[in-house]
Amino acid sequence: LAGSAEGADPAGPAAAASAEAATLTVLYGSQTGNARHVAGDLAQAARARGLTVSLVDMADYKPTQLKSERFLTVVVSTHGEGDPPESAEKLHTFLTSRKAPDLSGAQVTVLGLGDSSYEFYCQAAVDFEDRLRALGATVVAERLLLDVDYEDQVDGWVESTLDVFEPELTAVTPAGGTVVQMPGLAAAAPTAYSRRSPFLAEIGEVQKITGRTSTKDVRHVEISLEGSGLTYQPGDSLGVFFRNDPEAVDGVLAVLELDGAQEVTLGGSTTTLRDALLDDLELTQSYPGFVQRYAEAAGLETLAELAQDTTALRSFLEERQIYDILHEHPAPVGAQQLVDALRKMQPRLYSIASSQREVEDEVHLTVGVLEWDGFGRPHLGGCSGHVRRSEEGDRVKVYVESGEHFRLPQDPAVPTIMVGPGTGIAPFRAFLQERDAAGAEGENWLFFGNPHFTQDFLYQVEMQGYLRSGLLTRMDVAFSRDQADKVYVQDRLRQHGAEVYDWLERGAHLYVCGDADRMAKDVHAALVDIVAEHRGVGSEAAEDYLVGLRDARRYQRDVY
Ligand code: 2AM
Repeated sequence: LAGSAEGADPAGPAAAASAEAATLTVLYGSQTGNARHVAGDLAQAARARGLTVSLVDMADYKPTQLKSERFLTVVVSTHGEGDPPESAEKLHTFLTSRKAPDLSGAQVTVLGLGDSSYEFYCQAAVDFEDRLRALGATVVAERLLLDVDYEDQVDGWVESTLDVFEPELTAVTPAGGTVVQMPGLAAAAPTAYSRRSPFLAEIGEVQKITGRTSTKDVRHVEISLEGSGLTYQPGDSLGVFFRNDPEAVDGVLAVLELDGAQEVTLGGSTTTLRDALLDDLELTQSYPGFVQRYAEAAGLETLAELAQDTTALRSFLEERQIYDILHEHPAPVGAQQLVDALRKMQPRLYSIASSQREVEDEVHLTVGVLEWDGFGRPHLGGCSGHVRRSEEGDRVKVYVESGEHFRLPQDPAVPTIMVGPGTGIAPFRAFLQERDAAGAEGENWLFFGNPHFTQDFLYQVEMQGYLRSGLLTRMDVAFSRDQADKVYVQDRLRQHGAEVYDWLERGAHLYVCGDADRMAKDVHAALVDIVAEHRGVGSEAAEDYLVGLRDARRYQRDVY
């Protein structure tokens, strides 16, 4: 267990055993920071009750320690098609492997964080609980699965979880009241601004960095953090609260025949309906809970029936924003009913595209504007639409979310391979600025891709400058639509497979950022083939090699 494994125990094995037995281990697997924060809240509250707690990131956890756990809480989020966060993969795999131990002595609880607009809602948490139970652990409290607007439920969960564990923990040994290992808390040192209390920052430049005939609209955004005391590191993300489109909000008010000046209550305070719709409520991303609540409030039977049919509901939601649903199904709902049917707006996270060594109290983002037509109206992404409507001098609420699993090598001499097509280039701009300003001598190799060289070469001048200065040792680009056959970053990786493998063997850290659905999977497959070919092994051994890199924090992904 973490506590005794950290150092020699002067009281000998017997004392160590009882000290171990009285510890609540809180294991978290976090992609965007939410699970880490919630686990931290639990650990802090446990400490306040005088309990001994060990808070550990799953990525730092030795799976073989599992067998000595007596009291365990798992907090894990879910991404993509029911996948656990990257940082949870090692433990996730271990639990289903032959090496997984008997856990019949352990009492466990599981908290899942997820997004109900996706099909495999909180699947990673369900998997963890199933596996722990199958290994013999006793699940001592029903698992809780929380949606994106989870915040109000955290305190209740923390208290009820501790109510379950406290008698057990204090029965084993008298309360210790020490925090055995809490790197998560140390990292989350109290700063003035956070998700719960974001900084109102001023927007500087907003510049479209794709060409006039590009199929994409990508904006480079500069935001001032002056006066906030906020700091960040390359690999961190910026959480951005946005304002819904005023025209679209007025459209909704009109179609529902509601007066925006009416007062409504939201989270205990009073505001007007229009302000609530503009700044506080989610109107872009649709999800099942809204359809259920709105259909019920409005007495819409067909919509209520649809809400019961999971498969039909899924495809209905995939195509529609909340705006579309309201336009398609206008009904005489009250202002407060509408507010209660909607969920709180969640901030969007963007990989930071700058280094403070270079830009000081600014933070830069690379924002791809989501845009499509349908249902007789133009559609824009919630936050990216806001960015497009923004001008210099506008204000936006932001906070920094630390990205512990996307970091430059500590050693400035270690080489990096960066694979970042599209807006996936953002964190690599930060990495390169950082290494440039620090005078880091390690080699850097960038793979970038996008549809057209003339339209879509994001940060072309800067990257070519880095190539000239030698900061970039190599740059390989894949402009997919500049020739008859599609060329992607993974094709460039394959072309230079021998060198890629050589760099890895020389200790390079490998980073992939961008599209999770297709690009990251295809890049991974290419890497497996490259390792297999140049190491002269089968694909299973090549996979193991990459797992080894991942566990050594040398293969890091920031994919979305
Ligand atoms: P395409 O749209 O021309 O097919 C950034 O979006 C770039 O990623 C684009 O050039 C896009 O190409 C490309 N892309 C699309 N699918 C991809 C995949 N499976 N792997 C890598 N790149 C991909």
